Amino acid sequence: MPSPYRIEGFAIVSADGMLADADGVMPPELFIEGDQAFFEQGLDQAAAVIHGRNSQEQQPRSAERPRLIATHSVETLAPHPSNPKALLWNPAATPFEDGLRALSVTGGRIGIIGGTGIFGLFLPRYDLFHLSRAGQVRLPSGRPVFPQVPALSPDDVLRQYGLKPGPIHVFDSGKDASLVTWSRK
Ligand SMILES: NC(=O)c1ccc[n+]([C@@H]2O[C@H](COP(=O)([O-])OP(=O)(O)OC[C@H]3O[C@@H](n4cnc5c(N)ncnc54)[C@H](OP(=O)(O)O)[C@@H]3O)[C@@H](O)[C@H]2O)c1
Repeated sequence: MPSPYRIEGFAIVSADGMLADADGVMPPELFIEGDQAFFEQGLDQAAAVIHGRNSQEQQPRSAERPRLIATHSVETLAPHPSNPKALLWNPAATPFEDGLRALSVTGGRIGIIGGTGIFGLFLPRYDLFHLSRAGQVRLPSGRPVFPQVPALSPDDVLRQYGLKPGPIHVFDSGKDASLVTWSRK
């Protein structure tokens, strides 16, 4: 039976495939206006988001979004201490579908928004992966978008998992900032 969920990844990376610097901080150069708008629009259409403990997006409607927050600190699923729309989730113990159903999300687009471990976890499941690049930024020893980077490029990893690139959309040619959406045909 086909899944009722459409799994979409959203990431912006440096030229060397990093999400954040070595301290886990996203430098200002990774915040590209067009990409921020694309990211917000994408999540506004999502039924829920899934991310690791350090990766929540900061958008006007973030508080309204159902979300699963991955952590080893719970056995299976547990209420979030302060966000009634969120559940803490242990991916090793509970399928993400069970977590979504516990949030009353029974179908629709699910935004996967990082970090490294969570982007890696969903590699076999992405229907779409929206990979933006800030081509003039380099973050040696940074946090990679997938665990396989930098041994492999992000593109190689997506290809390895059966995704194919769409056309390049340029956000800002001066900053060499662009987006490619990869899809599973
Ligand atoms: N450029 C981008 O597009 C982008 C996207 C996402 C994040 N970021 C940035 O990257 C930085 C680094 O993020 P991060 O590497 O710290 O990632 P993260 O995934 O947000 O947080 C890591 C934590 O999430 C939990 N976690 C992750 N995978 C898990 C798994 N398989 N099972 C159970 N728990 C799991 C663990 O929490 P516990 O320690 O509680 O077990 C882990 O310590 C963030 O600060 C964010 O700003 C950038």
